[in-house]
Amino acid sequence: MSTSSTVVTPQIIEFPRILDERGNLSFLESERHLPFKMKRCYWIYDVPGGELRGSHAFKNQHEVIIALSGSFDAVIHDGKEEKRYSLSRSYYGLYLPPLHWRTLDNFSTNSLALVLSSTSYDEDDYVWDFEEFLKLKKGSSK
Ligand code: TYD
Repeated sequence: MSTSSTVVTPQIIEFPRILDERGNLSFLESERHLPFKMKRCYWIYDVPGGELRGSHAFKNQHEVIIALSGSFDAVIHDGKEEKRYSLSRSYYGLYLPPLHWRTLDNFSTNSLALVLSSTSYDEDDYVWDFEEFLKLKKGSSK
């Protein structure tokens, strides 16, 4: 995919893979492999079976979600339709531009979700109400 900051739709990014008999290695550099400058990362782990994470959108944050271990699904609504991405490989990341409603579910045992973010933590950047999200989305496409 392009790494320009003009990308506005969700995209799967493939990170480099160094295959080695001793074990494989992948890496990313913010300026080379991400369509935004990374400011923060966080990770989600020990998710009990059947639990969901997320169920909100961000007004400004760009993010990349990676299944570093195990698997889970990212269910993304772009204001018009919903798409389910199954993440299970540590060398793929799902890029999400701002204003995408996202829920993570279907976590496998011992899964580890890494999230790379373009912003510092800001609770005002969260949109928790789906109807408000749809309104913001409509406003942003005018
Ligand atoms: P939240 O983003 O709601 O988790 P998720 O969307 O994955 O379900 O965050 C859960 C809690 O963690 C919330 O109280 C805020 C806190 N938090 C931080 O303090 N800093 C962070 O960078 C993040 C992502 C969350």
